Amino acid sequence: MTDPREFIHRLPKAELHLHIEGSLEPEMMFALARKNGIALPYASVEAVRAAYDFSDLQSFLDLYYAGAAVLRTERDFYELTAAYLRRAIADEVRHAELFFDPQTHTARGVPLAAVFAGIAGALRQARAEHGFSGRMILCFLRHLSEAEAFATLDAALPLRAEYAGLWIGVGLDSGELGNPPEKFAGVFARARDLGLRVVAHAGEEGPPAYVRGALDALEAERIDHGVRAEEDPALLRRLVETQTPLTVCPLSNLKLRVVKDLREHNLARLLRAGLCVTLNSDDPAYFGGYLNANFIAAAEALALSRDELAALARNSFRASFVSEAERRPWLDEIDALAAR
Ligand code: HPA
Ligand code: ZN
Repeated sequence: MTDPREFIHRLPKAELHLHIEGSLEPEMMFALARKNGIALPYASVEAVRAAYDFSDLQSFLDLYYAGAAVLRTERDFYELTAAYLRRAIADEVRHAELFFDPQTHTARGVPLAAVFAGIAGALRQARAEHGFSGRMILCFLRHLSEAEAFATLDAALPLRAEYAGLWIGVGLDSGELGNPPEKFAGVFARARDLGLRVVAHAGEEGPPAYVRGALDALEAERIDHGVRAEEDPALLRRLVETQTPLTVCPLSNLKLRVVKDLREHNLARLLRAGLCVTLNSDDPAYFGGYLNANFIAAAEALALSRDELAALARNSFRASFVSEAERRPWLDEIDALAAR
């Protein structure tokens, strides 16, 4: 198998940094807007796509939250998730830990139970029909207060038993600058006490101090993005030592101008320095590609070797929250493919 695209396609992969609301394709946005009687500020699907020209994280978030407003019912969340899972399965993604943003929906009067039920329904169906392994990570919006995050966690707890084994953790997303991890130390401590896994976005636009804050104040088990950690050599050494994963999103970083050109992306340097780097698609409907597209773009821009591509796939399972026994067959499959 000499074609790197074929190799990438066939590698079993886990997706650890995917906002389910960020998989809302313009076609579905229009269909749901029509069904739910919601006016969109765009005349056509093409006009929506043309608007996806971002200058930074906030310019994206403004459109992302506006787009999410078409999601109203359990069925809408089911359809959204099912569509993502079809694409993931086609990309040979075997396991996904999906982020969802309840506050974006409850603020519009959507019941939290409908959000959970829709996403979980599609995950359970994919498990039954394809053996797909899926989990849910509830993200707090960091531009809102810690009190609002606590209220969201409290509202979700009564649903925990119903979604045991699916809802496994909490994360932190939205506008990073000005909203350091320390703001959420209390609610993350509560989540950890409850036995939830914890991850946080840090070092996407924010400085290395935010990555340190996510590690020290939140005890984050993975850092989402984290690419700006490179500016702090002592922090990099710590990340190598602890093998704390960075869930890196190349096409996202390009579209949000975290990097000017993918050839300047530091993911290969970070990988070669011994960090546990994984590749992910973040908000694929907005950033121009699902997981394999991210692998292909990174491989071509950074001349990643087959061994490095296999290492990235292995890292995705090592960094996931599944048990050793669950990840073993996927790792064996990667080894077998890499040995050919
Ligand atoms: N960063 C922060 N918040 C987000 C992102 C992201 O890349 N995508 C969706 N919410
Ligand atoms: Zn993200």
